[in-house]
Amino acid sequence: MAKWKVFVTRVIPEEGLRLVLDNCDAEVWQEETPPPPEVLIEKIRDCEGVLTLLSDKIDAKVMDSAPKLRVISNYAVGYDNIDVPEATKRGIMVTNTPGVLTETTADLAFALILATARRIVEADKYTRRGIWKTWGPMLLLGRDVYGATLGIIGFGRIGQAVARRAKGFNMRILYYDIKRDEKGEKELGAEYRDLHSLLKEADIVTIHTPLTSQTYHMMGEKELSLMKPTAILVNTARGAVVDQRALYKVLKEKRIFGAGLDVYEKEPIDKDDPLIELDNVVLLPHIGSASVETRTKMAIIAAENLLLALRGERPHYLVNPEVLQK
Ligand code: GLV
Ligand code: GLV
Repeated sequence: MAKWKVFVTRVIPEEGLRLVLDNCDAEVWQEETPPPPEVLIEKIRDCEGVLTLLSDKIDAKVMDSAPKLRVISNYAVGYDNIDVPEATKRGIMVTNTPGVLTETTADLAFALILATARRIVEADKYTRRGIWKTWGPMLLLGRDVYGATLGIIGFGRIGQAVARRAKGFNMRILYYDIKRDEKGEKELGAEYRDLHSLLKEADIVTIHTPLTSQTYHMMGEKELSLMKPTAILVNTARGAVVDQRALYKVLKEKRIFGAGLDVYEKEPIDKDDPLIELDNVVLLPHIGSASVETRTKMAIIAAENLLLALRGERPHYLVNPEVLQK
């Protein structure tokens, strides 16, 4: 039987890539940056499957150029880069890699909480610059994490994994989500709040929602203004959940204590993005799931999702199960 024609938009860890290469007639994009849209369109023209990253935008136009396409396997838990309704309309399966990256992403959210509250990055720069004179009673004072009130926006797998870590820090846990999760509340001792109440009460706010039309700019100037002047915002979800210009303004005017960001409205951020000049923000290059172990697991799942779909079987994680009913 002829092998399935597949395009892989970046080199992913060997364990997953090998599965694709052994079972498909696959081409792998070798560059560090994504294939430009016109190249992607050209590459997938005859493909039955494509393995994509969150930096590849897969819209109706791209799908129209690939009439044989049956599966888009996204190497990520988030899939806001793919127009899922358009895929469903065309009977194309969309798959993702949830679960395996939950704990790794929660670790990073906690790292950002600690780094922002205790000014770790600023302190590291200070130490390296050779300007440290003596132990200082007022030197680089941060905010306590232990015992603080944590506000979790989006109480899904990752949000709850952050809550488990917060229990070890004796934190009071509040959460907001579009749906209440009474089981999770009980298990983690978390209290439900509407968004505005959460923002007013929390010392640390951490975002764990997907990006959808409902969560786009959910944290705008009005919401940010409800936060305490001593509060911290952490975002490891998707940049566009926060209005980044409004965030810059409240950070610049010191209307909140600080922010820890792993994600941005536009990635990468520009070299002259005004956020870069601020000391009260920790900036990471979207590395939430970036551990050797987790990226390997994601590669295997993304490869298996792709192969299962090509075989006409149900992938491990199917975003649009409606396609199977067609
Ligand atoms: C990373 O942001 C992911 O969605 O996996
Ligand atoms: C997605 O939100 C996840 O928690 O894996």
